[in-house]
Amino acid sequence: MVNNKAILKIEGITKRFGNLVAVDNVSFEIYKGEVLGLIGPNGAGKTTLFNTITGLLLADGGKVYFKNQDITNEKPYKICKLGMSRTFQVTQSFISMSVEDAVRVGAYNRHDERKVEDQVNQMIEFFGLNAIRKKKCEELGLAPLKRVEVARAMATDPDLLLLDEAGAGLNASEMSELMEMLKEINREKGTTLCIVEHVMKMVMGICQRIVVLDYGELIASGTPEQISSNQKVIEAYLGKRAVK
Ligand SMILES: Nc1ncnc2c1ncn2[C@@H]1O[C@H](COP(=O)(O)OP(=O)(O)OP(=O)(O)O)[C@@H](O)[C@H]1O
Ligand SMILES: [Mg+2]
Repeated sequence: MVNNKAILKIEGITKRFGNLVAVDNVSFEIYKGEVLGLIGPNGAGKTTLFNTITGLLLADGGKVYFKNQDITNEKPYKICKLGMSRTFQVTQSFISMSVEDAVRVGAYNRHDERKVEDQVNQMIEFFGLNAIRKKKCEELGLAPLKRVEVARAMATDPDLLLLDEAGAGLNASEMSELMEMLKEINREKGTTLCIVEHVMKMVMGICQRIVVLDYGELIASGTPEQISSNQKVIEAYLGKRAVK
């Protein structure tokens, strides 16, 4: 699937909160069709980078190109319409809605009225949500709630999906199920994935390439094998996780 053509290009992105440089002059590319992992310790700037790419936060410097188009500091809904979607680390927005309404909100972002119901039904089917489609999101356990979050993001039919800790809090079998689902999305729909995740089994098992942030800076990028033996990455992140 990877054809080395960048779908997203980040050039020198910087985001500050007061004196704190949360994302510090970060540059990398995401290739069309690939599964890219974005890892690093707590507070490394992963979510801030996602927020800056998707227009929720304004960048203080640098450029973001999506499908060769400059989308730096563009409005989130416009970026979504161009074919980029994301999930949130803390699922908050759709908690009082039913499962199918939450998915419908996603579908409405990019489909006209006639196609919305089709798209909702397809997503409900794909993510195995049929039995709970009328339930309120707030009644769900963590695993189905995470699936709804991914289904909502996928209902926009994105070319690039950014996932912010979609597996956090899941047990081993729920995590495997999520991994299989993401692999299938990538394989069947050709969706490019960028995955922020602390669970290394998932990152190493699904990502073709990994970039590593530490204190806002990009400290390494490479294949899972290269990253797991990179001394800088072991010192900043992986070593500490192994000790835990
Ligand atoms: N809105 C904000 N205002 C001020 N500081 C912020 C804000 N959002 C994030 N930060 C700070 O920016 C830094 C990067 O945070 P961010 O949430 O992007 O890290 P992360 O890599 O996603 O961490 P985690 O793995 O814990 O989710 C941290 O020091 C954080 O405290
Ligand atoms: Mg985060």
